[in-house]
Amino acid sequence: MNKLQGKTAIVTGASTGIGAAIAKELAREGANIVLAARGLEKLDEVKNEIIEQTNGKVKVIAVQTDMSVQTDVNKLVEKAQADLGVVDFFVNNAGQMRTATIRSGRVEDWEQMIDVNIKGVLYGIHAVLPSMLDRSTGHIINIASVSGLEVTKTSTVYSATKYAVRAISTGLEKELARRGVRVTNVSPGMVDTRLSSTHTDRKKLEATDIAKAVVYAVTQPDYVNVNEITVRPV
Ligand SMILES: NC(=O)c1ccc[n+]([C@@H]2O[C@H](COP(=O)([O-])OP(=O)(O)OC[C@H]3O[C@@H](n4cnc5c(N)ncnc54)[C@H](OP(=O)(O)O)[C@@H]3O)[C@@H](O)[C@H]2O)c1
Repeated sequence: MNKLQGKTAIVTGASTGIGAAIAKELAREGANIVLAARGLEKLDEVKNEIIEQTNGKVKVIAVQTDMSVQTDVNKLVEKAQADLGVVDFFVNNAGQMRTATIRSGRVEDWEQMIDVNIKGVLYGIHAVLPSMLDRSTGHIINIASVSGLEVTKTSTVYSATKYAVRAISTGLEKELARRGVRVTNVSPGMVDTRLSSTHTDRKKLEATDIAKAVVYAVTQPDYVNVNEITVRPV
């Protein structure tokens, strides 16, 4: 504990699954946490769990945010800065996985995924990056997927959004070289959450397995930029 004492992290999609686990692991290392998602009730539950887990040693706030709405995302970062000061880590985790074949013709599903998985990630970076560049320090962590490394016939559009996340991470890392701001792209395999499919031939990962990968990336020395982490079950 305490490797991240005095640091502040915004975690999007923090009300369940991987996002909640990331928030808890970062808090376990002493970071103050800003939890974001649309559902405030579940966010408050995670907030209370973190307060209990850390005996109230870290500050936690919950901010209702729809990542597909840019004004919401701007307000999230403003609220974090107003309440907790400098934002050190921004974890772009919120995501949607819906019916993703092109043959399905489910345009609304595609748009939901594009709006949250791609536009939401860009809105988050846009809102937080200027303050990180001003200070020449900070860390953006994007949660992509192994679906951003390979496409199956049932995941075409979801995969497209996750390929986009990887492209954003890769390009941003190049844009930010020598500017002090780090970028990490995390590609999880199947994780046991409400989003994951019920049918899989492999054992699923736990959400904390991904959270620990994030903690690894953010606890490296300042000059070390862990750009890519892929975590699959055996
Ligand atoms: N589970 C897997 O097997 C797996 C594998 C690879 C990658 N991933 C990626 O990991 C991330 C987290 O997935 P998960 O499995 O933990 O899913 P999850 O349990 O369904 O959690 C998704 C989180 O995102 C939030 N969210 C959804 N739409 C949002 C929006 N418009 N604005 C703000 N928050 C929103 C949800 O809260 P609200 O609904 O209250 O907003 C929830 O907190 C996603 O990016 C996903 O693509 C998951």
